Amino acid sequence: MRLWGGRTTKPTDPRVERYNASLSFDLRLAGEDVRGSQAWARALARAGVLPASEAEAIQRCLADIQAEVDQGTFHAAPSDEDIHTAVERLLTERLGPVAGKLHTGRSRNDQVATDFRLWIMAHAPRLAGCVLDLQEAFLRSALADLCTPMPGYTHLRQAQPVTWGHWALWHFWALGRDVGRLDQVRRSAAILPLGSGALAGTAFPVDRMALAGELGFDGVSPNSLDAVSDRDFAVEFLFAGALLGVHLSRLAEQLILYSTAEFGFVELDEAFTTGSSLMPHKRNPDPLELARGKAGRLIGHLTGLLTTLKGLPSAYDKDLQEDKEPVFDAYDTLAETLPVLTGLIGSLRLRPERMRSALSPETFAVDLADHLAARGVPFRQAHEFVGQAILKAESLGVGLDQMRPEDWQAVSPLFGEEMAGLFDVGRALDRRAAGGGTSAAALQAQAGEAQGWLASRGRPAQEPNGAGRG
Ligand code: ARG
Repeated sequence: MRLWGGRTTKPTDPRVERYNASLSFDLRLAGEDVRGSQAWARALARAGVLPASEAEAIQRCLADIQAEVDQGTFHAAPSDEDIHTAVERLLTERLGPVAGKLHTGRSRNDQVATDFRLWIMAHAPRLAGCVLDLQEAFLRSALADLCTPMPGYTHLRQAQPVTWGHWALWHFWALGRDVGRLDQVRRSAAILPLGSGALAGTAFPVDRMALAGELGFDGVSPNSLDAVSDRDFAVEFLFAGALLGVHLSRLAEQLILYSTAEFGFVELDEAFTTGSSLMPHKRNPDPLELARGKAGRLIGHLTGLLTTLKGLPSAYDKDLQEDKEPVFDAYDTLAETLPVLTGLIGSLRLRPERMRSALSPETFAVDLADHLAARGVPFRQAHEFVGQAILKAESLGVGLDQMRPEDWQAVSPLFGEEMAGLFDVGRALDRRAAGGGTSAAALQAQAGEAQGWLASRGRPAQEPNGAGRG
């Protein structure tokens, strides 16, 4: 069925028909389309456009269709151009010409924008729920090894000691910002376009505020041209998804590295690795590699839709039909990736002895310089002295922590007997006691903040997970 044709004399070329159709993917909007139509039928009745009995008949029939959608027995015909056509055809088959009154004052342009917004309003929070699950896994892992030392890296070179808890909470907070963005996406989507007609508004006295309230929108669009043109909410969804994907990708890359034989800081549970068809010894981090790789397609969806939108003229253009597949695919991609990562983090085994033994004495270089600075040496000069001490240790062929007091003295008389005692990871960590740092107290405070953050989103306090140590 098609919803137009009065002025056409020829059938559409079958190639165009196929090309034009969006049913294969917008079938996912069936529930939203039915809800939107039910609300529209009620609005028309309240406006006196539709007799109450007809509005009721339409609503009852739509409720049956909704039940079919919920039970998975909803069947569109291949000849339906899109989901709006499919629902209207079913309605027409079951109710006769009365069904044709539902489209009074409405266009597929405001209808599709409404459906799509409803879908995003429901699915952005679902994705946020998956992110919260992953955050909980990170917090549990952080609590279990809050003060377990490990090397911290910049430029992928050892920099200063940090702790596992510190590392895990880093990802907790990055994901927390993703949740915030998904909340915002929901708010952006929650502006009702219905009642905008094709582009110029509707000529029937429908109460748009009441419609918005019934459908769960926060407000109504102030301009009908803008209402049918606007896909900012979809772009924002894709941006939130792309950035979330980038966070997951960076996380995956770190875990791939940390789980290598060379690093050996963590061990992936076997259930989260896969084997090789040729090399019997392999346990590959495929799920992490996929999580890293999928960032590419998520970024692609964002740039794709932005590019589709950039040259569009007024109001609805068929180009806009290209908005749905990227959004659905971004959702599916993330809804699949996040639970895998949640399981993987929850089953990760730490190897604290490997993390500790990997710490090179040079990661204490800043502590040595700080020590001199605390005694009044300008930091720049202290930096220089420590650099010279490193050179000296290299020339002696010993580790920086193996230098004897006289070796230190040869670099500068400011270096006293106490130098050997500065190579203490607990001391180094605890010195960074300002908020956000690595001291035990700062980490406790941070973990408490993370607990509070989760609680404010309805997630109760976490117990450390029992993930063992390899
Ligand atoms: N299937 C179309 C879409 O997804 C629905 C809107 C059609 N509107 C129109 N004027 N052709 O964008």
